Amino acid sequence: MANTKPLLLADQVTNMKHIPLNFIRPLNDRPNLQNLQSSNDNNESIPIIDLQGLDEDNDASNRSQIIHNIGQACQDYGFFQIVNHGVPEDVVGKMMKVGKAFFDLPESERMKNYSDDPSKTTRLSTSFNVKTEKVANWRDFLRLHCHPLEDYIQEWPTNPPSFREDVGEYSKHMRKLSLKLLEAISESLGLEKDYMEKALGKHGQHMAINYYPPCPEPDLTYGLPAHADPNAITILLQNHVPGLQVLKDGHWVTVKHVPNTFIVNIGDQIQVISNDKYKSVLHRALVNCEKERMSIPTFYCPSPEALVGPAPQLIDQHNDPPKYTNFTYAEYYHKFWNRGLSKETCVDLFKV
Ligand code: OGA
Ligand code: NI
Repeated sequence: MANTKPLLLADQVTNMKHIPLNFIRPLNDRPNLQNLQSSNDNNESIPIIDLQGLDEDNDASNRSQIIHNIGQACQDYGFFQIVNHGVPEDVVGKMMKVGKAFFDLPESERMKNYSDDPSKTTRLSTSFNVKTEKVANWRDFLRLHCHPLEDYIQEWPTNPPSFREDVGEYSKHMRKLSLKLLEAISESLGLEKDYMEKALGKHGQHMAINYYPPCPEPDLTYGLPAHADPNAITILLQNHVPGLQVLKDGHWVTVKHVPNTFIVNIGDQIQVISNDKYKSVLHRALVNCEKERMSIPTFYCPSPEALVGPAPQLIDQHNDPPKYTNFTYAEYYHKFWNRGLSKETCVDLFKV
């Protein structure tokens, strides 16, 4: 067989001194690693919210305080970090471990899952969308659809042997947590508790296992460039290596690693449903020359046929008219994958 270049990044990077030219960002769009350091030194990060008491109806005052904090974070940052979220540590530990074990498999074993077609419901790929993008990103990723679990689990990798069990268990906990957060977000907007849940139709849930290998020139490229997430909410688990940055008042804030937390962010669909009261904020992932970084986002989303638009209760034809037209999530999602990650976010295409 001809000696062809590996398709995945992880299989190209050993002993690499310079990144390939197609990874180099234009001069005006490069990470500022100094900025990463100073934001670390300043102890800046996103709000931390303790969810202890959110489930308890008998502690009404604590519950309403948590909902208030969530609403405030959604307005000010579009991002927050949660503690006491109720997901058992061993479930999270097994997820991280099996994700890492997957990326440690030999190339031939991993490649059984490879596809560059974004419409496939289980696939391993690299960068963002290799078919359409001009500049490549320093990332490999495995993407999985997770809900309803029984529709997809048969497509998932069987190696490592515990993959389906560990990831299946994790994804069930993520669904529970997503629903709890969607209720709190609905209430924080003054909507019925189940408003968001109903707005998502039959619900969709995807996850990614992002693998960012060490990079010899991390100041020239991104793991993921600035983008907003197209879904409703994202719940992200990351290993101990920082890299996620969030845009706040025009500058990039680095999210600190806090053990036993998840990072939650508002996606485009909640921005639309809230009629811009909550913002789906730009974020990006930087890489570094020493350590591999892993992140595992769960993307909770409407089902493809769900019709999304601003909540009627949040619009007032005179003072607060609807800012978006109604659309199906299928339409939205198709646009997202085909236009590429960009600072001009996809929601703008659906503005009235
Ligand atoms: C994403 C994302 C950030 C990270 O996958 O959409 O923003 O830290 N990931 O990997
Ligand atoms: Ni994202």
